Amino acid sequence: MTRTSDPLSLSLRLKDATYTLHEDLDKGIMAHGLFSNADKYKSFVKLQYLFHRDANALYNHAQLLEIIPDLTARNRFTHVCQDMQDLGLPFPEDVSSVDTPDASTAAGWLYVAEGSKLGANFLTKLVEKLGFTDTFGARHLAADPGGRGASWNAFKSAIDHAGFDPVLATTGARAAFMRVKKYMMTPDLVSSLPA
Ligand code: HEM
Repeated sequence: MTRTSDPLSLSLRLKDATYTLHEDLDKGIMAHGLFSNADKYKSFVKLQYLFHRDANALYNHAQLLEIIPDLTARNRFTHVCQDMQDLGLPFPEDVSSVDTPDASTAAGWLYVAEGSKLGANFLTKLVEKLGFTDTFGARHLAADPGGRGASWNAFKSAIDHAGFDPVLATTGARAAFMRVKKYMMTPDLVSSLPA
């Protein structure tokens, strides 16, 4: 049975601390109309590629692997790379600039990457209309094998009971959201904003 989160759990603290950042990001992404046609969806995949590239090393974080044994299998970076190839998108030449942080900060980053799989449930329905699925172009939006709810509850339970520093974890979660926001402000995404 999955344990429910207590009122002061880390996952609830992170949700509370990043609520506005998520709202802004969510509205920003929808304002760009990134799900209105295939070309705009390509910009979303580029954004996801850059974010998951930054998070990639954190899915191999030694301390986190002890707490979340299936962490490596949760990583979506390979899936988003395949989506880039499906869509004929070139891979950016610059490199990721995230140093491997302490376990608490890394847990905050991973809270954002893992939590984004919940919103993906809604996004898959939009991209299906554009012809993209979990076997072509939208592989990285697919649910984890055990289902979105079970996967998310297991992740939350793991970080809630690991004794992470909530201040550092919050710093990590905020930094991750800010990183996605920064990528949303790249020139080709900004140019897709309505005038
Ligand atoms: C890369 C962009 C995004 C990131 C990093 C992200 C991140 C997150 C995180 C961390 C959560 C978990 C919150 C919690 O319960 O603690 C979440 C949930 C959610 N997100 Fe996003 N999100 C993104 C884009 C979007 C977009 C574009 C939408 C919709 C327009 C969306 C809709 C939702 C919804 C509906 C939930 C809650 C789902 C549920 O509770 O069942 N997200 N997201």
